[in-house]
Amino acid sequence: MLLKALLKAPLMLRHGSCGPYVPAAASPPRVVPRPALTSRLGTSHSLFTQTLTDMADDDTVTELTQEDAPIKARGLEGVIALESSLSSIDGDTGTLIYRGYDIRDLTAHATYEEVIYLLRHGALPTRSELDEFTAHLRSERSLPGPVLDLLRNAPDDSPPMAVLRTAVSALGMYDEEAEVLERAANCRKADRILAQIPTIIAAFDRLRKGRDPVPPLDHGSMAHNFLYMLNGEEPHAAAEKTFDVCLVLHADHGLNASTFTSRVIGSTLSDMYSAISGAVGALKGPLHGGANQEVMRMLLDIDEQDADPAAYVRERLADGDRIMGFGHRVYNTMDPRAAILRDMMRELSEEAGEMKWYEYTAAIHDAMEAETGIAPNVDFFSGSIYYQLGLAPDLFTTIFALSRTAGWTAHLLEQWSDNRLIRPRAQYVGARGRTVSPIDER
Ligand code: COA
Repeated sequence: MLLKALLKAPLMLRHGSCGPYVPAAASPPRVVPRPALTSRLGTSHSLFTQTLTDMADDDTVTELTQEDAPIKARGLEGVIALESSLSSIDGDTGTLIYRGYDIRDLTAHATYEEVIYLLRHGALPTRSELDEFTAHLRSERSLPGPVLDLLRNAPDDSPPMAVLRTAVSALGMYDEEAEVLERAANCRKADRILAQIPTIIAAFDRLRKGRDPVPPLDHGSMAHNFLYMLNGEEPHAAAEKTFDVCLVLHADHGLNASTFTSRVIGSTLSDMYSAISGAVGALKGPLHGGANQEVMRMLLDIDEQDADPAAYVRERLADGDRIMGFGHRVYNTMDPRAAILRDMMRELSEEAGEMKWYEYTAAIHDAMEAETGIAPNVDFFSGSIYYQLGLAPDLFTTIFALSRTAGWTAHLLEQWSDNRLIRPRAQYVGARGRTVSPIDER
């Protein structure tokens, strides 16, 4: 029975609908041997097509099995693992597009809710489509009682990302549709997760400070409602707009580590809650989303020590440390999101009459440029913007998760529209031919 349902699933997923469904373009053929890529490493590879002859420099290599062959894409750098029509990064020009729209155009002319819709459906919503969509998101903002209890019982000093990961997983236990794989149900779950993550973050932040959670509003944008639930008062329009732009900027970013994680989990035909809680876990790391709070820690450290930011960075580099908020696997130039955030931060600082954090970041940027030539990424400026909005530094990565849920859920729907199990291979470098000796003789 179950097997039958699973075998049917891909068909159901393709033909289900959620709201005004924009059919995917005709399914591309499955990945077959294609011209190999040339990565920054100067090697040629493709996840599915690596052949022994590609790798053979001499006869000894051809003796190896594929599993034994030398790794050509450590960290999967440069590997094309799947096809996606959601977002694209041009690392040389510093361009990011969602569904064909430049991120600069979207931050200037669209809200986060419009971007969620765009990522999911492939087209920007009309006024009535947006109204219907936002009304549905608003109706899903409250948490099930047991999930709120879980937040009440979480230790106050738990990392907020650990709390979020656990709470997202718990939400699945209280969703009757959690195991229904049909597309319309998956869209409804995506809406619930998108609507409830802000409530989880805000409720935990208040509870750990000994305050009561503020119930969600039944009006206002996601940015507005989140800031309201966090602070207990409705935000000014400027704060809402700034926060909304940050959400737009973080909504999707190609096949980054957490998105890949979500698609790997989704590809096993597991459920959306499993995939999103796994993605939250991947985003938590300091080499991915955790970098933004590390940046703020560095700025606060500089401030506390009354240190010269450029000298501080040079010292850290001399010690072999990485400077958080710099470097990227795909961009060879400045991350376009960082450029937008830098300008926003300058404006915010000027309006607030507090230029200190902006000046620190500008000095660090110059020092990194001079010392390493490595450019800032999105995390370098987002942290200090959130800080200026009054958010606690250890919440920064949860806000990244709040926004990236738009991308994760859209990627899962895309994955399930033409699913194939994601299952690469490892190069085995361990021992062979050993035999088990009796336990007393070891
Ligand atoms: N500070 C100092 N040096 C850095 C650096 C940073 N932030 N980022 C990369 N480098 C250096 C590495 O030390 C390495 O130098 P080496 O070749 O002399 O050893 C070189 O640049 C390449 O780094 P590598 O780790 O191989 O690149 P990657 O593509 O695997 O890593 C990141 C990409 C994002 C993980 C990496 O740039 C980083 O750790 N950045 C800081 C964390 C961060 O901001 N993450 C958020 C990403 S949006």
